[in-house]
Amino acid sequence: MAKKLHIKTYGCQMNVYDSERIAEVLRPLGYAPTDRAEGADMVILNTCHIREKAAEKVYSELGRLRLQKDAMAEHGQRMVLAVTGCVAQAEGEEVLKRAPFVDMVFGPQTYHRLPQMVAEAARAANQVLDTDFPAESKFDALPQERNVDGAAAFLAIQEGCDKFCTYCVVPYTRGAEYSRPAADVLAEARRLVGAGAREITFLGQNVNSYHGEAPSGSGGGAEWSLARLIFEAAEIDGLERIRYTTSYPAEVDDDLIQAHADVDKLMPYLHLPVQAGSNRILQAMNRNHTVDAYRALADKLRAARPDLALSSDFIVGFPGETDRDFRDTLKLVEDVTFIQAYSFKYSARPGTPAANMEFQVDEALKAERLAELQALLNAQTLNFNKACVGRRMPVLLDRTGKKPGQLAGRSPYMQAVVVDASEELLNRTVDVTIISGGPNSLLGTADPKNQKACA
Ligand code: SAH
Ligand code: SF4
Ligand code: F3S
Repeated sequence: MAKKLHIKTYGCQMNVYDSERIAEVLRPLGYAPTDRAEGADMVILNTCHIREKAAEKVYSELGRLRLQKDAMAEHGQRMVLAVTGCVAQAEGEEVLKRAPFVDMVFGPQTYHRLPQMVAEAARAANQVLDTDFPAESKFDALPQERNVDGAAAFLAIQEGCDKFCTYCVVPYTRGAEYSRPAADVLAEARRLVGAGAREITFLGQNVNSYHGEAPSGSGGGAEWSLARLIFEAAEIDGLERIRYTTSYPAEVDDDLIQAHADVDKLMPYLHLPVQAGSNRILQAMNRNHTVDAYRALADKLRAARPDLALSSDFIVGFPGETDRDFRDTLKLVEDVTFIQAYSFKYSARPGTPAANMEFQVDEALKAERLAELQALLNAQTLNFNKACVGRRMPVLLDRTGKKPGQLAGRSPYMQAVVVDASEELLNRTVDVTIISGGPNSLLGTADPKNQKACA
């Protein structure tokens, strides 16, 4: 009988990708995924360390799981409890200390070794800790077979970060930048398409710093850029949409901008985190670009692809942020306009330079600024969603809607779109006319030609 595996994923898309791959590593050991932690033979928390709250969540979840683990033990069953992801990497020892009932702690770079770890944890009921940055790449050791859940898939092409923004833990939790060889990426893309993917999002902590070894005999240098990879991936039959995330603005080059002009399959939507709209703060953050450089980049991208829309990340209350700095951020948002955004109160992270900077901003002031920024950003999202009413756009219907007879999917701009449509249209890209737009989603009707094609 299959053993039940429950993985709970926090944090970014890289963690979502890792969780899928972890399930693939464990499948040959007889583990099949389940949605519930109750009664699972193995529970893995794939964690995020980016802000204090994210990290603390893990310990409260572990507290709940302990009760379930104990309840199972009373019935003679064992729940193997594991912690991976960035909290595991950053404070693995601490996890084992604070939660001694945890069986395995492993970092994001070692999960290809799970078969050995599972055996070790089972043998002497030992605790296992593996947070190395091994010389071998996990990507070479992972099973080739890929499962696709729905028509949109993630593909990690780059991992790690050398940028050391002064607030950020990622360079410490994910290690140095590493780019997968282009041939491996293209092979995985083909396998994903073969397994049903219609859309692929290339992932990396700094995806545009990608510089992977070129396939032998491909010409044009020893390494491929992200732009080259996009051009080549666009040739894959059956792949309809390409996205990439997350980009580092200071390293967006002209080739990548050109790809937005030339590659139809590349979606006209880009997540380009700016963090702040004040040069003083950007410099203190070590972001390596000015506010004007960001504005110019946005203009260039829109010149290359006039229908391109941007989303972004913002941090308010970075140490030393004055009211004037914050007003500059609002001004940047007003001028550039973002159709979607994530914004956060600055969270001091142990071991990062900003945590020791002078003039930490008061929590109440951070909350005030965040509310003001979010009101502006939400208004921009709603404006854009409303402006879509009456437009026709291709929607990849990759899931069923909440109500029977509905399907849901994503527009080119990653908006959630709900349509009345029969199941035959599931996992297909369908032309949809938008009939209403709210803060979080759009409602549309599928063009009759799509309906007929399947009738
Ligand atoms: N590599 C990506 C993602 C980093 S984490 C990038 O460079 O953008 C995602 C977002 O979390 C960041 O863009 C930033 O806005 C936010 N973030 C990172 N560290 C933070 C901190 N210490 N406090 C608050 N927000 C933070
Ligand atoms: Fe963190 Fe900056 Fe690297 Fe992004 S670029 S992961 S924000 S250090
Ligand atoms: Fe969080 Fe690690 Fe991603 S800290 S945002 S899970 S890279």
